[in-house]
Amino acid sequence: MTDDNEKVPEKGSDELAAAKARAKATAERKLAESSVGKASTDDEKNETKTDDPRAEEPKAEEPKPEEPKADEPKPDAEPTKDEPKKDEPKKEEPAPAAAKRSSSRGKDRPPMIVVKGLKKSFGDRVILKDVNYEIERGKVVVIMGGSGSGKSTMLKCLIGAHPIDCGEIWLDGAQLSGPDVDHLDSTKRHVIWNDARRKFGVLFQSAALFGSMTVGENVALPIRFHTDLAEETIDIMVKMKLDQVGLGHAEDLLPSEISGGMAKRAGLARAIALDPKVIFYDEPSAGLDPIVVTVVDHLIKDLSKALGITSVVITHVMESAFRIADEIVMLYQGEVIFRGTPEECQASDDDRVKQFIAGEVPVRDEDELPAFLDDVL
Ligand SMILES: Nc1ncnc2c1ncn2[C@@H]1O[C@H](COP(=O)(O)OP(=O)(O)OP(=O)(O)O)[C@@H](O)[C@H]1O
Ligand SMILES: [Mg+2]
Repeated sequence: MTDDNEKVPEKGSDELAAAKARAKATAERKLAESSVGKASTDDEKNETKTDDPRAEEPKAEEPKPEEPKADEPKPDAEPTKDEPKKDEPKKEEPAPAAAKRSSSRGKDRPPMIVVKGLKKSFGDRVILKDVNYEIERGKVVVIMGGSGSGKSTMLKCLIGAHPIDCGEIWLDGAQLSGPDVDHLDSTKRHVIWNDARRKFGVLFQSAALFGSMTVGENVALPIRFHTDLAEETIDIMVKMKLDQVGLGHAEDLLPSEISGGMAKRAGLARAIALDPKVIFYDEPSAGLDPIVVTVVDHLIKDLSKALGITSVVITHVMESAFRIADEIVMLYQGEVIFRGTPEECQASDDDRVKQFIAGEVPVRDEDELPAFLDDVL
């Protein structure tokens, strides 16, 4: 990826500044060249063809040309808010006292993720009513729930792609949304989210690779954007990340030249490019055959163990959930109805949980039927 003859500029030199500007310009140009949200693999193309009313709306995982970060949407979806530049000076962190408040069960360190009283609506439609849970460090937590139950919406709230109506979101002891930060101006909130974005990676359902960039360039993108590292260093990091997901041989291939399973792994390599503390996966098994699903499951589990990464995985696939989860969180009609180990999930007395495991549509009240079917049909 790097030109062998290219000289590595010294830190602090004008040359370094120029090299950084060049790298950023390249990243921006490549993003601009990639058509917005253009699917790069066959399964991605299929996913874009849908009758879902959301198809009309811009999706969080579809980066805008002016937004150089490939898979990390803006902290606020409100179009009126000013977006500061990435290199603006660091502003104050949320108060340590507030961070401590999220600590639970007497542990020294707070949970990696805390969600309290989260509410999110689209217009009159309440999608998340009152979501509460904590995710311990280093765990693999699987979020389950019927189609349309709000899993992806919740994930987008967690990564700052959707503003929330009310509630609190904490990551690694810092409040990202909630009373401590909501009153701050957009610059301060942006700094908080920018810090947070370096701590998590996201693997979207579609893998969201940029079709005009090689696999290696896709993986390099967040490193280029978030760091000042020399191209040679980035090149080494990219190779390491690709090796970690078993794609060492695919660095120079285009997304159109790799399979759906490889695209998922390439997306995963990009998600771990900055050594995140947390990886969010939205349906990592979608569009894959059962064997590749097993491979991806192992990869999630292995990465979590080897790198101590906290993993939040949204999946419909029960076998996957039981295979990889330390804990399962089940969403139903905008609320968490179950939290526990896979064994506890299988032994649950809750009819809705039992029906979900059995693959049945969990409807208890006939009045709910039309609205629910809107989402599943
Ligand atoms: N940007 C949006 N604007 C309006 N409604 C939306 C938007 N995004 C999601 N929704 C609605 O919110 C509800 C929950 O959608 P979401 O994508 O979170 O469900 P999900 O649980 O991830 O479903 P699936 O398992 O099918 O991926 C759906 O009814 C959907 O139509
Ligand atoms: Mg979803």
